[in-house]
Amino acid sequence: MGYAWMLFIGILGSCGQENANAPYVFPITPVGEVPQPAHNLATEKGVTLGKKLFFDPRLSANNAVSCASCHHTDKAFSDGVALTTMGVSGNPLVRHSPSLFNLAWHEGLFWDGGSKNIEAQAFGPLTHPDEMGMDLQDLVHKLQADDEYPALFKEVWGTDSITTQRLVRALAQYERTLLSFNSPYDQRVAKNLPAEGEVLEGEKVFVQYCAACHIPGLFTDLSYHANGIDTAIKDRSHELTHFGRYRITNDSVDLGRFKTPSLRNLAFTAPYMHDGRFATLDDVFAHYFRDHTANPLADSLLKSQDYSQVDPQQKKALKAFLMSLSDSSFIRAQP
Ligand code: HEC
Ligand code: HEC
Repeated sequence: MGYAWMLFIGILGSCGQENANAPYVFPITPVGEVPQPAHNLATEKGVTLGKKLFFDPRLSANNAVSCASCHHTDKAFSDGVALTTMGVSGNPLVRHSPSLFNLAWHEGLFWDGGSKNIEAQAFGPLTHPDEMGMDLQDLVHKLQADDEYPALFKEVWGTDSITTQRLVRALAQYERTLLSFNSPYDQRVAKNLPAEGEVLEGEKVFVQYCAACHIPGLFTDLSYHANGIDTAIKDRSHELTHFGRYRITNDSVDLGRFKTPSLRNLAFTAPYMHDGRFATLDDVFAHYFRDHTANPLADSLLKSQDYSQVDPQQKKALKAFLMSLSDSSFIRAQP
């Protein structure tokens, strides 16, 4: 009896230790529970470690470039320029830095969906010579020799061994916590209130012309489309920038197709599109609100109705609706 009781206390004790790295509790979102892979369930300490790593320039070859150098907290984790030159080489990257939020639902990362999960995605920027330019072996040695990291890795995984797999898992845990569902639109929908006035008028324009691809909730269908910003892609020197999904599938129907970006937080994420070619929403509207029927590279949805019919008042209203999707509570000063 006494022995069984001691055993019981022993079990309790070890539970207490497990709880030292408690599971991270995600909020329930308007689009449901935050998905996460069974092999990398987020913990409090894992998320904290991932956050530290995300902002740490020592993850780069010259100790000067962090993930946050191109994903700014004050711009919904985009960077405000068309093609960044913030990487270790100073060369411009071939595509625009996207915002980062609500990524847990994405089945493909990058504009062309070339990476299949958030964990694996991080190897791209870490090793790319124009981004962080790190040799992964050197990175492990650098962090293993650090004053703090071995202990932090131990808190999360039980041993102080630093591996690149653990590193990208921690980054991914942090990235899944970047949730943005607190815009005026969300606050209204949570109260079951209908849109009013100009926002209501704009919502109607949105539903007719935009919602098929930018589906409410995440405001993306997470799929790949050519939204007609180019009429032809002939020059192979544009392969990296403009070929889009074709680079991944090698299927000609995917030429010029890109992952539909979310329309949340547009107030903070200019310039727009995969190459950052449009500086303002007016530029974006000038693109969409014209006749797309003659464009061989425009998605059939853009040809199914006449986009040139939308009048200035409707455009103004659409802008008001789109601005109601921006979540200022997600915006933090850039450290
Ligand atoms: C030098 C700038 C730069 C740095 C540094 C950088 N990124 Fe990026 N990031 C980009 C660009 C540009 C893209 C889009 C690339 C593409 O699609 O071709 C991108 C794409 C992404 C995406 C895909 C988002 C989506 O919607 O598909 C994620 C996630 C991401 N970065 C996370 C990170 C993490 C984590 C780090 C640090 C380990 C990092 N980035 C470092 C510029 C950068
Ligand atoms: C056929 C699907 C489709 C339709 C319909 C559509 N879009 Fe898009 N949208 C996309 C795709 C795909 C992209 C990314 C294209 C690229 O980067 O080259 C995009 C990009 C955008 C962007 C840039 C976002 C960013 O972060 O860079 C904005 C803004 C936008 N669309 C607004 C609209 C509006 C407003 C409408 C309705 C008038 C609309 N879209 C209709 C598919 C669509």
